[in-house]
Amino acid sequence: MKRLLTGLLFIICSLFFSPAGAQVYLDENMPIEQRIDDALSRMTLDEKIAVIHAQSKFSSPGVKRLGFPDLWTDDGPHGVRPDVLWDEWVQAGQSNDSCVAFPALTCLAATWNPEMARLYGTSLGEEALYRNKSVILGPGVNINRTPLGGRNFEYMGEDPYLTSSMVVPYVQGLQSKGVASCVKHYALNNDEEYRHQVNVKVSDRALHEIYLPAFRAAVQQGGAWAIMGAYNLYNDQHNCHNSILLNKILKHDWGFDGVVISDWGGCHNTEEAIVNGLDLEFGTWTDGLTMGRTNAYDSYHMAEAYKQLIKEGKYTTKELDEKVRRVLRLFYRTTMNHHKPYGFLCSEAHYDAARKIAQEGIVLLRNEKIETRNGKGAASLLPLDKSKSQRILVVGENAIKMMTVGGGSSSLKAQHEILPLDGLSRFLTGHDYILPSPLGEGLGVRLDFARGYVGDTIQTFDGVSTGRSLYETRSQAELTAEAVEKARQADVVIFFGGLNKSDYQDCEGHDRKRYELSYGQNELIEALLAVNPRLVYINISGNAVAMPWANKVPAILQAWFLGSEAGNAIADVLFGDVNPSGKLPYTWFRQLEDCGAHALKAFPGEWRDDHKIIDEEYKEGIYVGYRWSDLPAKVKRSMASPSLKSQISNLKPLFAFGHGLSYTSFNIENIVTDKMEMTATGNMTLTVSVKNTGACAGATIVQLYIRDLKASVDRPVKELKAFQKVFLLPGESREVTLTIGRDALSFYDERTQEWTAEPGDFEALIGFASDDIKEKVRFELR
Ligand code: BGC
Repeated sequence: MKRLLTGLLFIICSLFFSPAGAQVYLDENMPIEQRIDDALSRMTLDEKIAVIHAQSKFSSPGVKRLGFPDLWTDDGPHGVRPDVLWDEWVQAGQSNDSCVAFPALTCLAATWNPEMARLYGTSLGEEALYRNKSVILGPGVNINRTPLGGRNFEYMGEDPYLTSSMVVPYVQGLQSKGVASCVKHYALNNDEEYRHQVNVKVSDRALHEIYLPAFRAAVQQGGAWAIMGAYNLYNDQHNCHNSILLNKILKHDWGFDGVVISDWGGCHNTEEAIVNGLDLEFGTWTDGLTMGRTNAYDSYHMAEAYKQLIKEGKYTTKELDEKVRRVLRLFYRTTMNHHKPYGFLCSEAHYDAARKIAQEGIVLLRNEKIETRNGKGAASLLPLDKSKSQRILVVGENAIKMMTVGGGSSSLKAQHEILPLDGLSRFLTGHDYILPSPLGEGLGVRLDFARGYVGDTIQTFDGVSTGRSLYETRSQAELTAEAVEKARQADVVIFFGGLNKSDYQDCEGHDRKRYELSYGQNELIEALLAVNPRLVYINISGNAVAMPWANKVPAILQAWFLGSEAGNAIADVLFGDVNPSGKLPYTWFRQLEDCGAHALKAFPGEWRDDHKIIDEEYKEGIYVGYRWSDLPAKVKRSMASPSLKSQISNLKPLFAFGHGLSYTSFNIENIVTDKMEMTATGNMTLTVSVKNTGACAGATIVQLYIRDLKASVDRPVKELKAFQKVFLLPGESREVTLTIGRDALSFYDERTQEWTAEPGDFEALIGFASDDIKEKVRFELR
């Protein structure tokens, strides 16, 4: 009896007073899956329900009783968003939540440098850690299907291979800091207008070949810990609880072990959410308590309603436990990881990273020779010569507009943002631009500015204000007259135009209404050209725009939304301290109709009679971007309905996918393969010699495209399957080796629902852009 009592006492003591080691869920030496089992076994139904939905705008609760802290998420993807109030979108007014704004993801993609993506991820991770954010809502990897896409600036272009190559190191870099990447918006979120109502109809082939690869790479190669369901519908079911996308593809086929988080307000149905793979619900009734409910969060689909269904016996806790298991896994990877570094906000290293990424992403689209001012010969306008005495006139609102504020959820409170005009001024004088020009004639470069047009003067978002007024009282005629008059006197005119992240101008919530530039920019450019053809056009945007004047403007630069270091990076490139090496991550069509989705009138879809759902059929299928422009006209016409056939254009893009110039020149030669026949399981290695044939150091990107010469299905003319960025000194040459495997030759076979590589002949095309192929070699897959 005494023994029995002692035994009982021991069990009771070890239950209540055991050291942490005995509590498996807290024991860091135990495998995570066992810790999860233990934690799960200790949780009550209420605690389980609590961890699968939000408790505030950006946080969900942990399990306080067991020592799991709250989970804080934050946007994403270009910097850590400032804090909002618990239940409002309004700023919390913290004084320590300014951040470094990194360049928008289109710019990152334009670096074609996975190391820049890793640097981006690690830097952002450090900022997030300091701010105690465990999940960053990004990166976005939706495909640029149309240049009207309002959020394309947050994504990485049109090509699945490029996007996949860039998302993996971003995710790995971020998560190396113990901060989860929530890759978004899964999937087919290619429209902003009516984003909650668009029902996408797309072929399985296009889904798997174009729209899913980057998500798959993020999951399988990057090891993403979270993924965000998109607002739109696919196959008549909202993507946040879409059985095909979540249960079948993501969790079953790809083996995703992380958490599916709903986009904010993207969950619409409790039972679908229960059975179709949503794990964590955020933002339903995104205006929170202002809806008048006493506790909006209890009214979430995965809150009281779910609990009730369990209590009624309609569901067991089977699905719930699976969701909680995933959430706990996320806790162990983030909030419960006690070996994370402390983090660092606004460090010099982060500014350096932002500047480096911006410098590498800027794309020199055009740099034609033009007659010199003194009429002695012709020369390119760029790079500008800072040592030469000259009058530089800067025109355009985008030279003085902050771009980190605006655009929707990616809007930031940047600790600083160097405006383009200030960047140029700092480069020349060491300080910001002060009106009027600080430099007198004869003292070197004279920098002057004319506003030229008025675009968006608001400059605030969700309570973050730039603190600068762009208010303007002069009429357009007066602004034009001033700019033209100053341009007449200038040696070179630099026009900063493009889009500006206000509504319909590259901004969440709306797609662009037109491909053309707004605010009379085209007319202004023509007026400037009439008095001074020495014009550099710098386009600020995340999308292509129509440039009807392109062949009259000698130099064109694509400078994206570059973040904190925008002006510095632009000046570095304009004055040649940095040789541009960015390449376009999407096709720059001459006109909207040259893009497949528009040529086939397959955007933005058709409303159903009840006006609740808009069906959008991706009629162009796999032919997105250069895959469409590459097609012969007759193939394009065969895809068009009779009424559209005659209108199908066959214009070459203004600037092709992969295009980007340099201040030096490069040559590719001597393509050598390690074999002429590839086996189903083997790889093939291609080596080329790349030489810098110009006078200054620089980098280029060797791009490898694959063409399937004969297949049982239609295949694109070519597809990007490998690339490498190479930095070379003048005269230097280097061997670049690119390796491809069977996946580079495969297509998604809709009959077998598998990736297939058919034996036969292929061509490997190597060059500097999709329209600049220098070498090719034929080989066979056995
Ligand atoms: C956006 C997401 C964002 C979320 C939270 C949504 O409206 O679509 O990309 O992460 O809000 O701000």
